[in-house]
Amino acid sequence: MKLAATALCLGLTLVVTGVKKNDPCAYEALPDTDAAFCRGLEVSYPELGNLGCMFVPDCNHYREKITLWPKPTVKFPKALEGATYILVMVDPDAPSRSSPRARFWRHWLVTDIKGADIKRGKIKGQELTGYQPPSPPAQTGFHRYQFFVYLQEGKTISLLLKENKTRGSWNLDQFLSRFHLSESEASTQFMTQNYQDSPNVPGSPRGRQ
Ligand SMILES: *[C@@H]1O[C@H](CO)[C@@H](O)[C@H](O)[C@H]1NC(C)=O
Repeated sequence: MKLAATALCLGLTLVVTGVKKNDPCAYEALPDTDAAFCRGLEVSYPELGNLGCMFVPDCNHYREKITLWPKPTVKFPKALEGATYILVMVDPDAPSRSSPRARFWRHWLVTDIKGADIKRGKIKGQELTGYQPPSPPAQTGFHRYQFFVYLQEGKTISLLLKENKTRGSWNLDQFLSRFHLSESEASTQFMTQNYQDSPNVPGSPRGRQ
């Protein structure tokens, strides 16, 4: 039983990470401490597929492209068809993980999402904060982009005027407790850093903007 699980795990790792070591295009999984976060949610971008618990690969300009792509597909396969959900996307590492003075940066906040929709990866609802792509500043290291899904039930969710004014320094805990949202139903995260900091950008990356 245990052996089978290990074999399955190994098989999956091989499929996900590819075979070649040092291939910048290989999908690299997040370290275990960060991986504990990935519970039942899929976040997919074009070309890359589900980025849950992965680093954005450092090839094909993916780290640049992700700053330009529109919103990803977010899928919660275990969603209850008749329920209503809230989707939160934040960066806890603003402006950097070592000094997160502006934690949390609110990237996206959608309420009134029908279970039947999110179950199929469709995010339709009230956008309290429009989607802003991950765009980690240069030289600030890797940022985590975290996604949470909460059960909304019959609640009416809104941001305070003050919260709506800015995306940065969002007190997520205060927001959640205001609406008695405690445990998320599902969550995931991926990581990326500024594409100019990538070792695999050909030529001098600084001159490119
Ligand atoms: C403020 O509210 C408007 C309307 O709901 C929304 O479109 C906008 O994204 C909000 N701004 C922020 C920073 O959340």
